Amino acid sequence: MQDNIITGFSRFTKEEKLNWVAARFLPDAQSDAEALRSFWHTDEGQQRILDGFSENTISNYPLPFGIAPNFLIDGRVYAVPMVIEESSVVAAASSAAKFWLSRGGFRTEVLDTEKIGQVHFSWQGDVALLRQHLPALKAQLLADAAHLTANMEKRGGGVKGIELIDLTGQEPDYYQLRVAFETCDSMGANFINSVLEEFGQGLQRYLKASPDFQGSSARAEIIMAILSNYTPDCVVRATVSCEVETLKGVCPDMAPEEFAGKFAKAVRIARLDPYRATTHNKGIFNGIDAVVLATANDFRAIEACGHAYAARDGQYRSLSQCTVEDGAFTFWLDLPLAVGTVGGLTRLHPVARRALDILGQPSARELMSIIAATGLAQNFAAVRSLVTTGIQKGHMKMHLMNMLNHLQATSEEQQSAIAHFEDKVVSFTAVRDFLERGGKHLAS
Ligand code: MEV
Repeated sequence: MQDNIITGFSRFTKEEKLNWVAARFLPDAQSDAEALRSFWHTDEGQQRILDGFSENTISNYPLPFGIAPNFLIDGRVYAVPMVIEESSVVAAASSAAKFWLSRGGFRTEVLDTEKIGQVHFSWQGDVALLRQHLPALKAQLLADAAHLTANMEKRGGGVKGIELIDLTGQEPDYYQLRVAFETCDSMGANFINSVLEEFGQGLQRYLKASPDFQGSSARAEIIMAILSNYTPDCVVRATVSCEVETLKGVCPDMAPEEFAGKFAKAVRIARLDPYRATTHNKGIFNGIDAVVLATANDFRAIEACGHAYAARDGQYRSLSQCTVEDGAFTFWLDLPLAVGTVGGLTRLHPVARRALDILGQPSARELMSIIAATGLAQNFAAVRSLVTTGIQKGHMKMHLMNMLNHLQATSEEQQSAIAHFEDKVVSFTAVRDFLERGGKHLAS
């Protein structure tokens, strides 16, 4: 136990860190260290870039980088890059994209792109007086932060509004400056946080310098200054729609009207039941996270915001909605998405850079549209499977391949196994037994 405690780990070289971890925590120190080392980039420069993203690195963690082609979004066809470890997700997105390609594709609308930051502070004073001072305070804060905002303003962004929020009814002496930002093509986290910290100091300077505020009212204690990842006004809507009769063939055993009705009911269930809503939205995020990751955006922020938004009326609900009216099937998704296509890791990460190139170097608004369309496609594919064949059929095929790879089956054995398990339940034991019996499919 004492052996596992270390000081100065961060000062070790990477090789020393790897060896230290392997010696203490891995079953076969030498070969396990070698296995982790094998994921180091062969190009030292590239490896240095990756190591620069984080701390205490001992290896890289590879994930598959796939493409879902044929995404017709607002009249343009995209091949969408997706990074995800779950089988069937890219296949499902590709299949839904192809399905909608011949039915008008995805239409999107960016409803707004406002981001929010907060200066949380404690203050004892006359709030009515502070409100009277608000125009002068705002002007002072903006002037003091001009060195931070000038570049963003040149690009059309900057601070869009400053509000004083009185929350003393919920927490003694607690106020916020709630600040609205436009950050153009960047996600803007650093920009927002720098401006907020400057605003915090500016508020303190203002109160101290103004003769109207004396004693304790001349002092504000800044609790924290930080962006909010909840961006309910940075929202995109993605929609697909078609005549119900053009859904013919979506499932051989179901008439298009029956499919549309069952699909819409499944979506309504996800709006009313949080248990189902969580899984339904998880399916949406299968698509969203994969593109967010591929483009080196912050998937934790996107997830946190999406789920908060899904519960905005007090109950956690499906992010997507569906109607079947007057012979028309309409399926859409409203999603808050604070993403960037410049800054952060977007151009630094060697694969993310290529992902953005594959997408034609989109603006942040265009990327919002692409991500939302992918989320909607994913949701369409999942619910389509659920209300028709069930999802296990497709999943098990991919799962079988993973097991066969794990068990190092030859390509001949893989082909036999696919044929053999076509009408049988796939389990690890069944696949292993099949291979141990010689891996031959005998046509029944
Ligand atoms: C699996 O990763 C995602 C689904 O469970 C989503 C859903 O149920 O809608 C298939």
